[in-house]
Amino acid sequence: MTTLKQPCPSFSSPCIFAAGEMDAVPIKMLGMPLVVRISERFTLLRNASLTLLFFAFSLGALAQGTDAAQYAAGEKLFKGNCASCHKPDKDLTGPAMAGARARWEGKGDIYAWVKNSSAYLKTGNPYANELFAKWNKSVMTAQALNNEEIDAVLYYADNYVPPAGPKPPIDPNPKPEASSNWPWLVVIGLLLAVVAVSLSGVKSSLTNAVREAEGQEPLPDMTTGQKLRQWAWNNKGFATIIALFVVTFITLKLWDAAWVIGVYGGDEVEHYKPEQPINFPHSLHAGKVEAGNLAIDCQYCHSSAAKSKHAGIPTTNVCMNCHTAVSEGRSPEGTAEIQKIYAAAGWDPAALKYTGKIEPVKWVKVHNLPDHAYFNHSQHVNVGQLECQECHGPIDEKMDVAEQWAPLTMGWCIDCHNTKDVKMAGNGYYDEIMARLEETDMGHSELKKYLEDDKISVRELGGWECAKCHY
Ligand code: HEC
Ligand code: HEC
Ligand code: HEC
Ligand code: HEC
Ligand code: HEC
Ligand code: HEC
Repeated sequence: MTTLKQPCPSFSSPCIFAAGEMDAVPIKMLGMPLVVRISERFTLLRNASLTLLFFAFSLGALAQGTDAAQYAAGEKLFKGNCASCHKPDKDLTGPAMAGARARWEGKGDIYAWVKNSSAYLKTGNPYANELFAKWNKSVMTAQALNNEEIDAVLYYADNYVPPAGPKPPIDPNPKPEASSNWPWLVVIGLLLAVVAVSLSGVKSSLTNAVREAEGQEPLPDMTTGQKLRQWAWNNKGFATIIALFVVTFITLKLWDAAWVIGVYGGDEVEHYKPEQPINFPHSLHAGKVEAGNLAIDCQYCHSSAAKSKHAGIPTTNVCMNCHTAVSEGRSPEGTAEIQKIYAAAGWDPAALKYTGKIEPVKWVKVHNLPDHAYFNHSQHVNVGQLECQECHGPIDEKMDVAEQWAPLTMGWCIDCHNTKDVKMAGNGYYDEIMARLEETDMGHSELKKYLEDDKISVRELGGWECAKCHY
């Protein structure tokens, strides 16, 4: 029996045989390294798949590392009872809550403290008294929570994840979202691609091995592109379907993208938030008292919102109503910003008098409808009785300088006009319309039509007429 002159190094480079020996090579001899190679390929494949799978599972495990139910319960209790004085991760009126349990370990009874800190201070516990002194003897109000609830709050604080953007860290009722699935699709796609590439390698090795064994030339090496083209040629129907899918997908994506060209705000694109000459914190001035803010009414500063088309931006005189007395902010940066008001208003804080050198603040306009659209604040604030936040978002809760929250597209206006229930009762503006609807026959049948869905929408009163919004 003849043998190979040298072991076959690789199936992709043809082995060198002595002349005339080729047809005598037994399949078995070729089979040995083939099995080895295939098993090598499969080991590689298996390892790659296992690594990917492991990666995927460990990601899943990470996401479930915190107990979502406990976290959610703690978050609710924290927000309801503690958030006015505590933040999970930062000092506020009281210390940052994260790590509190560890700080109390072996030094006192944290449950007793939370339930009634004044009573606990009277027990003379040294740590509690030290803490009390350190926080300028501000009293922590007694909290009617049981031990389990306190555990939940502390658990929440210790595992607190700052919200990324407007979404909460762990959604207690997660809704399936297309966007949150795509990393998984990528992982699965990669996995499949690895499998496909490896299998096609195995297949061509096998084919070539068989061809060699049968004494034929091994197939020429093709580039991936060539292989793809050949495959598409051989599977025309399937290839057409795939091509159609790809084209439809891209068209839909482009169509979606076209809707938000030049649009700021809304759910899909970034909110417009230009830098302002003075870093004026809306949250501090207009935010809730319970959160340690000033709760100044929006219309104290935007005083024409209920009376005219524009809400208006306050002059520095309005700021100076308070800031003649308030020259310090909550941080050195805040204090520096207040100095800018003084520079603009021409106020000398040392001498406590105006110098007369005024330089108006050049605020950057945030919202801007195109000229062909007509929007009136008083119509919405006064007549429509809408809250500013319905259109401007949680400006008092989470915005420093203002940002554009809603997309301000025609679709946005029309959508609300279609769904919004107009508050007619006791609204002087509607007395006349109401009377006509109730007192004439035609009005009656009209009103019945309006009320089929138990409400009168803005649309039904003419809120979809082009001329109402377009000059
Ligand atoms: C009215 C404000 C206020 C509220 C509401 C409040 N705390 Fe406090 N808390 C404080 C202050 C202030 C301190 C610092 C000690 C002091 O001055 O009494 C403190 C201290 C603590 C400490 C000790 C922290 C440390 O670093 O050792 C814990 C724990 C704590 N609070 C838990 C809670 C929990 C839980 C809630 C809600 C259920 C809550 N607090 C609600 C004001 C408050
Ligand atoms: C129905 C939606 C809606 C409501 C409610 C609303 N706004 Fe507006 N606001 C807008 C739109 C739209 C613009 C852009 C107007 C423009 O560019 O002509 C705007 C612009 C503004 C501006 C920029 C200056 C100006 O007047 O154009 C301020 C300030 C403002 N709003 C404050 C308020 C305040 C304060 C309230 C509540 C009292 C309020 N808005 C209620 C939709 C609303
Ligand atoms: C009704 C009173 C009042 C009015 C009006 C007012 N402020 Fe203030 N502002 C305050 C108080 C009080 C503080 C300090 C809050 C604190 O230290 O807790 C403050 C703080 C600030 C700070 C510092 C913020 C920080 O992070 O420390 C800036 C900047 C500021 N105001 C700008 C303005 C501007 C600009 C105007 C006018 C458009 C204005 N304020 C109008 C009461 C007012
Ligand atoms: C103490 C004064 C003050 C109060 C109170 C206040 N604002 Fe403002 N607001 C300003 C100033 C100053 C600006 C201009 C700087 C900026 O855009 O951040 C402004 C800007 C805005 C803008 C963007 C205007 C634009 O250029 O398009 C909106 C919208 C707005 N405020 C809404 C509100 C709402 C809603 C409230 C109540 C929750 C409120 N403001 C409370 C002073 C105030
Ligand atoms: C959050 C809901 C909401 C949004 C958003 C909204 N509107 Fe309105 N709009 C109302 C309500 C409520 C009324 C009813 C007040 C009334 O009957 O005059 C109204 C009334 C109107 C009217 C008077 C209609 C009439 O029949 O007299 C006009 C004009 C108008 N809106 C324009 C706009 C424009 C332009 C936009 C977008 C830039 C817009 N609105 C966005 C709620 C909204
Ligand atoms: C409730 C108010 C409202 C009504 C009713 C309304 N529009 Fe508009 N329209 C707007 C606003 C605001 C814009 C500007 C925002 C934008 O460009 O998306 C606009 C923009 C447009 C544009 C320009 C589109 C662009 O991309 O710039 C056209 C065209 C238009 N409207 C036509 C109409 C016609 C036709 C009707 C009647 C069938 C109508 N509108 C009714 C509020 C309205």
